Amino acid sequence: MLNALKKRRAIRKFEPREVEREKIETILEAATYAPNDRMREPWHLYVMQGESLKGYEKVALKYLEQRFPTKPQLIDSSMEAITKTPLIIVVTSAIVEGDEGATKDNEFAVSSAIMSMWLMAEELGLGMVWRTRGVGLVHDTALHTYIGASNQEQLVGTLCIGYPAETITTPKKRTPFKEKTTWL
Ligand SMILES: Cc1cc2nc3c(=O)[nH]c(=O)nc-3n(C[C@H](O)[C@H](O)[C@H](O)COP(=O)(O)O)c2cc1C
Repeated sequence: MLNALKKRRAIRKFEPREVEREKIETILEAATYAPNDRMREPWHLYVMQGESLKGYEKVALKYLEQRFPTKPQLIDSSMEAITKTPLIIVVTSAIVEGDEGATKDNEFAVSSAIMSMWLMAEELGLGMVWRTRGVGLVHDTALHTYIGASNQEQLVGTLCIGYPAETITTPKKRTPFKEKTTWL
């Protein structure tokens, strides 16, 4: 397990090749086994490929053009995160009206589900990156609206998935746990 965790990397470059339906369903199934408070199973998974991905492209382009009107190069490079990704899964978390604690716990559960999906994707020979910023559009309303999520849902992750077109060989840089641990 430790080796698998050390090996997992954020992959941002993908081959222009579709991901098989069976593999996508295995990733979705992996999400459902995540731990979650009171079995609220607070996740919802929005799968985009082909046409729906083209629609997301338009949403992201509009967002970037409004945000960076004088930076066309930045827009072009940012857009590649979508145009060169064959599969994007947006994961939302349920908001529990009037219960901030439960809403937060739901976010934690959804984050666990995303980690399960990440490890599952790697096991299937796929690469993945969890995006929130920029075209990840997790902190904006545009993607929330586009996928048709309800007001009782909030976006937690935009997962870009595909067959990897890069191998990351740099060793994983992490602060030793000793510097992050207090034994009481
Ligand atoms: C909540 C969260 C948000 C992230 N958002 C982005 C993002 O918007 N864009 C991006 O390129 N990577 C994003 N990442 C990926 C991280 O940059 C990546 O996990 C980190 O650099 C560590 O590298 P590793 O995953 O290969 O260990 C995000 C990761 C997490 C957990």
